[in-house]
Amino acid sequence: MLSSLPPIKDSRVLSGGNYIDDGAVFKIRDDLTLVQTVDFFPPVVDDPYDFGEISVANAVSDIYAMGGIPITALNVVGFPEKLDISVLGDILKGAMHKAEEAEMLILGGHSVRDKEVKFGLAVTGILPSKHFTPTWGAKEGDVLVLTKPIGNGIITTGIKYGIVEEDVAFEVVKSMKQLNKVASHLMIKYGANASTDITGFGLLGHAQRMAYSSGVSLIIQAYKVPLFKGVYKILSEGAYPGGSSSNRVFVEKHTHWAKSIDEDLRKILCDAQTSGGLLISISRDKAEPFMNELKEQGITPSLIGEVVPKRDKYIYVE
Ligand code: CO
Ligand code: CO
Repeated sequence: MLSSLPPIKDSRVLSGGNYIDDGAVFKIRDDLTLVQTVDFFPPVVDDPYDFGEISVANAVSDIYAMGGIPITALNVVGFPEKLDISVLGDILKGAMHKAEEAEMLILGGHSVRDKEVKFGLAVTGILPSKHFTPTWGAKEGDVLVLTKPIGNGIITTGIKYGIVEEDVAFEVVKSMKQLNKVASHLMIKYGANASTDITGFGLLGHAQRMAYSSGVSLIIQAYKVPLFKGVYKILSEGAYPGGSSSNRVFVEKHTHWAKSIDEDLRKILCDAQTSGGLLISISRDKAEPFMNELKEQGITPSLIGEVVPKRDKYIYVE
């Protein structure tokens, strides 16, 4: 759809516009570059405070994916007339709490009446260094590092069906609330080439965008991809979000699957995520010290694949 719009010709635009990317990057002056993004969606969990926190972690994630620092944000709210307004109060409190952790100020917003609750934020950040990590920067010879497990779409759908054990749900909510701040900071420190956050298009959907926009192919080692506990069981009980099914159809066109990859795992790798981790493309020699420092700072990174010259398909799952 976006390709039908007129192209943007402005040398101050460093990403966004005609680029496939997580956020728009705009150079105001030589020493000041803006990064902007907006994200909002219906609740993925029942607890409004949790939902507020998750929404912030998810929205700022696009800024972190670019290697930016979030500065200010504005709320985007859809709220039903008949629902108790205290629910919105709790969402906003959760949001402000998480924003504080991100060292970002929420300064206002806009709300409309809506059939269902929707919440998210428009975030403005800056680039702390000239170096940033676009989706389109993956280079041959890089390896791929993922910073959070996959499967939170399936599990949050399972929670709505009432088929998820409490400890499984707890881990997933905790992960969705976790900021990608530390991972972002370290990938800039170690000079990563590309990054994208894993959200609605699922791991392989976002991987395809990275491959396509970088002009390379990606090899994904399926059995090295970290998964949330319980995801196979919950999937087998019928929890699979509509968005994930659409991802599966899209991904199929661009992916070569090794025969050993069973159908369930294919589905999980296409599962639409909320506030997922970063998929980072970094040169092989920097990967080990980068991953070691992530671990020291409480992040559990996984090396899940590599970048190769463009082949027939964009994604090879082995
Ligand atoms: Co994104
Ligand atoms: Co986004």
